[in-house]
Amino acid sequence: MEEKLQAILEAASKEAVELNARPDFEAFKARLVGPHGSLTDCVKSVGKLPKEERPLAGKAVNQIKKALEALFTETLQRIETAEMQALLGPAVDPSLPSAHFPAGTRHPLSQVRDAISEIFRKIGFTIAEGSELESEWYCFDALNTPDDHPARDEQDTLFLPEGLVMGNVDKKADERYVMRTHTSPVQIRTLLKEEPPLRIVAPGRAFRRDTVDATHSANFHQIEGLYVEKDCNVTDLKAVLDYFLQELFGSEVQTRLRPSFFPFTEPSFELDMKLPNLGKLSDQWIEVMGCGMVDPEVFKSVGYDPEAWSGYAFGMGIERLAMLLYGVDDIRYFYQNDLRFLRQFTS
Ligand code: DAH
Repeated sequence: MEEKLQAILEAASKEAVELNARPDFEAFKARLVGPHGSLTDCVKSVGKLPKEERPLAGKAVNQIKKALEALFTETLQRIETAEMQALLGPAVDPSLPSAHFPAGTRHPLSQVRDAISEIFRKIGFTIAEGSELESEWYCFDALNTPDDHPARDEQDTLFLPEGLVMGNVDKKADERYVMRTHTSPVQIRTLLKEEPPLRIVAPGRAFRRDTVDATHSANFHQIEGLYVEKDCNVTDLKAVLDYFLQELFGSEVQTRLRPSFFPFTEPSFELDMKLPNLGKLSDQWIEVMGCGMVDPEVFKSVGYDPEAWSGYAFGMGIERLAMLLYGVDDIRYFYQNDLRFLRQFTS
């Protein structure tokens, strides 16, 4: 048996090098492993051997089968390469790398999003995710945003038709679904899912019923931040945001907190920054984000004791920061996929 197998392999190896066309190769393969092929016959005859001889014979058959398979692959590759070469002609070497192989680049908004996340990651913040589709409770009520707040106006917000059922978002019967108007509902989702102390940033899309112009887009991107600890105060908030802006814009950046109002923070601020080298915007205070101390009502809505826990939150627009960083004066450039624009951000 073993000799017979060796003979099959040897004959096959000799024959294979002579093959130059695919039909010949297929016929050759069939003569060996087809229904009446010589190797197939050997496989069948193993069953007829005395029981004690079968394991050894089976092993030998398998070895030859493997060797033949390698031979088939190699031969087919050689034939295909020759066929390709015949098609292309002698001037083309298909094994050479392409002369024109443009590498893609990450979108500038992704680059800025990742740069921001990385700055916070260095000081222990982790990345959290929420849902782009929310119920009114997550987007508004749990964030202490009452029914009569302008953000809940039909004119400002993209509500989904009533009667819809979505598997992954929990919603009470009398609530509506909304495309999230900000990333702040990730605060609620994180507070419910995790145990304090907490330190997260949440990048993602937000949606508003906005008319598109140089500074507005109905779909834009934000990064939310949330920090929850035992004794946390405005100094901690300011220190972290100062660090963040210095990392992003350089050590010359100046910052100030300006009193403001958000339903889910108390006190609330706008953070402004000033830089000497921002073109037309040099040496002016520019608003870059909203922030504040987590409102006790937010803690109550997720079952935390506001006497025991304190925290701060902040939220910023990625487009706005990208425009300042790169000196882009129209938000629409980010969405038009014009390669002349995008190629400037090759990293
Ligand atoms: N969600 C606010 C917006 O879209 C931004 C914001 C302000 C987020 C203050 C915060 C915050 O976390 O504390 O306008």
